[in-house]
Amino acid sequence: MKISNVEVRDLVKTYGSPLYVYDQTMVEDKMNLFKKYLKCPELDCDVIYASKAFNCKAMIQLVSKKDCSLDVVSGGELYTAYATGFDMSRVYFHGNNKSIDELNMALKYKVGTIIVDNLMEARLLSELAKDIDYTVAILLRVNPGVEAHTHEYIVTANIDSKFGISVEKKEDILDLIHIISSCPNLSFDGFHAHIGSQIFDKQAFVLEVNKVCEFVSNLGIEVSTLNFGGGFGAVYTDEDTPIPVDVVCDTLIQAVKSNVEKYALKINKICIEPGRSIVAEAGSTVYTVGFMKETPHKNYIFVDGGMSDNIRPALYQAKYSCVIDGKEDEMPSKHYKIAGKCCESGDVIIEDAFLPEVKPNDLLIVKTTGAYGYSMASHYNKALGLPVIFCKEGKSQCVIRRETYDDLIRLENDL
Ligand SMILES: Cc1ncc(COP(=O)(O)O)c(C=O)c1O
Repeated sequence: MKISNVEVRDLVKTYGSPLYVYDQTMVEDKMNLFKKYLKCPELDCDVIYASKAFNCKAMIQLVSKKDCSLDVVSGGELYTAYATGFDMSRVYFHGNNKSIDELNMALKYKVGTIIVDNLMEARLLSELAKDIDYTVAILLRVNPGVEAHTHEYIVTANIDSKFGISVEKKEDILDLIHIISSCPNLSFDGFHAHIGSQIFDKQAFVLEVNKVCEFVSNLGIEVSTLNFGGGFGAVYTDEDTPIPVDVVCDTLIQAVKSNVEKYALKINKICIEPGRSIVAEAGSTVYTVGFMKETPHKNYIFVDGGMSDNIRPALYQAKYSCVIDGKEDEMPSKHYKIAGKCCESGDVIIEDAFLPEVKPNDLLIVKTTGAYGYSMASHYNKALGLPVIFCKEGKSQCVIRRETYDDLIRLENDL
């Protein structure tokens, strides 16, 4: 199998196994699509890559090259953006519990926008921002009472979410805006909402826009910016049918336009924060098959990675599909359970993969691991961090090297 015209077996010869491999062209194309379709003459539109999906210097450089903005949620993601030389005025800093150090770091780096999550943060930030020499745009994360899952969306009071302030809490929201607006270096620009992930029903986004706009209108203040978050889907298995980028962008734009008209809103900027949909399908994990065993009900394939490089199946029963290198066109003949090498029964990558006959040393390629794979990886069992390889037009480049055993103990002190 080739990834962006590079043979996977050559990648393993060069960089070893296991590996995360990204088709760089696919990542760039996805950002191009969002940029192309989130456009409308009446509104300023910003595509903000949600870097929690996959954050490293090379990825941030691609975001910059494609003229997108960047969403970060921690000091670490913030620092990586800064160290990469990303334009900090295009950084949106999220988080429900940002520390004083993180907020000070954001102000020192002159981050463009901070998404404030709660009243305590607003009070702290207005103190910290007293002496800065620039203006930070502030969005407030609100909870519009819409929750979207893959195939359904529900309207809930959702008063217990850890993120944001419920739109029902009008007094708290007005208080917060007053606190922000009283600080001359903070400019209250509008609201942010994020309703879920892997959303396949465009009506969920329409409902989100309707709820947020209705709330803005009821609040009775003018705001310039609305950010509708991420949640756009990716194909993990044949069952997944994400909304095409052109359709989802058009849906959002039309919904905003009709609400602007309905409520005579003064909105002039909208933002979205795609994460998964930009990187998921472009990424694959390449493993080598090791031991195999048959139990009364299962044919096990053990691979040389596992939950330490992909926690999603264990964490929330995420489903994946895979192929065996060189056997992509062979008829599947056997059901396999693909398990990793971690010391945990739940260390399963795919519960039931229907594949051609598999042999030890075959290369097994798990698809669509580009989002929340590397970024959620752990050192469980002191597993070494996998390298990340970018492939483009027949060439490969290592953008994160494999960890060594020395890397694993470099922070440790003797007793
Ligand atoms: C505030 C916010 N924006 C964007 C995203 C990205 O979501 P996705 O990767 O589903 O597009 C998330 C994901 O958790 C989020 O919490």
